[in-house]
Amino acid sequence: MTETLQIDIHQIEKSRIDTVDFDNLIFGRSFADHMLMVDYEDGAWKTPQILPFGPISYSPAMMSLHYGQAIFEGMKAYKSPTGEILVFRPEENWKRLNKSAVRMCMPEVPEDIFMEGLSELLRLDSAWIPAKEGSSMYIRPFMFSTDEYVGVSPSKTYKFMIFTCPVGAYYTKPIRVRVETKYIRAAHGGVGFSKNAGNYGGSLYPTKLAVDAGYDQIIWTDASEHQYVEEAGTMNLMFVIDGKLVTAPTGDTILDGVTRKSVIQVAKDFGMEVEERQLSIKELTEGIASGKVQEAFGAGTAAVIAPIATVGYNGVDYDLPERPADAFSKRVYTEIDNIKTGKIEDTRGWVMK
Ligand code: COI
Repeated sequence: MTETLQIDIHQIEKSRIDTVDFDNLIFGRSFADHMLMVDYEDGAWKTPQILPFGPISYSPAMMSLHYGQAIFEGMKAYKSPTGEILVFRPEENWKRLNKSAVRMCMPEVPEDIFMEGLSELLRLDSAWIPAKEGSSMYIRPFMFSTDEYVGVSPSKTYKFMIFTCPVGAYYTKPIRVRVETKYIRAAHGGVGFSKNAGNYGGSLYPTKLAVDAGYDQIIWTDASEHQYVEEAGTMNLMFVIDGKLVTAPTGDTILDGVTRKSVIQVAKDFGMEVEERQLSIKELTEGIASGKVQEAFGAGTAAVIAPIATVGYNGVDYDLPERPADAFSKRVYTEIDNIKTGKIEDTRGWVMK
């Protein structure tokens, strides 16, 4: 990583920070003052720019609007008790962005552009990083194709951008999830492991049907049999079964979540057995009914640890028990939150200052 990346900075004249109610933050509705923007042209990334956050205008023929070369990441920044800016595991997101880029036939983003661009952006908008418990600065890096062309081929030009949002909780209470048995999110050989916009677009209709039926989210199942738990679309799914942490193995249909891998590491550090294995819907529903499945939760950057209250399957609701004070999902949330916010020592090297 070079120390000398040039960034052209155009600062806002007047901050909008006074217009935001930091005590009532809604996820993803407020945007900090600046954004990073980097163009890719003639086979190279140009000088990064930091600009006032605002609209950008494009041709109606811009390729990403038609053929979906659009990928993104999600990260979070926090303020430590001494006021330092802390970002949780950003190198994992940089690596995953580039895996998505390769799969979507897009150029990879160099580490210095990602990290130094991010650091400069957070430094400029540091006043926007919420200090309140449960709040954070959500960071949205993304890349899209920008050629004006209607033929189907990889674009020759791209933009990599980052903007940030002060956010509150994504889910405010334990969620109800429905096992999806008709639609699929990802199939082997597809793009399920990548964080591309189309994966989210394709999830909206089945999720709407689940919401209309009284659920918050979907449990996606495997494409061939609809028999095994995959992920929830906005988060990975994890279960405590007979005292062991069970989660689907990553592969080409499941996003390699940063929170997922952090939870697995913390579980191992707590001395808990971890099983990355296929979990059938039968085992899950029978296990909830018999009490073997003690906890179910989603793990993701936006959602953090989202406890699941109910799993719906074929018209039957399976209710998880109330979580005791020492539930694993509560302890792992506290451990990761304490690391992210600098309340305890970061012995695993997860936090970038
Ligand atoms: C994240 O956790 O950052 C996600 O990608 C979920 C998001 C689509 C809200």
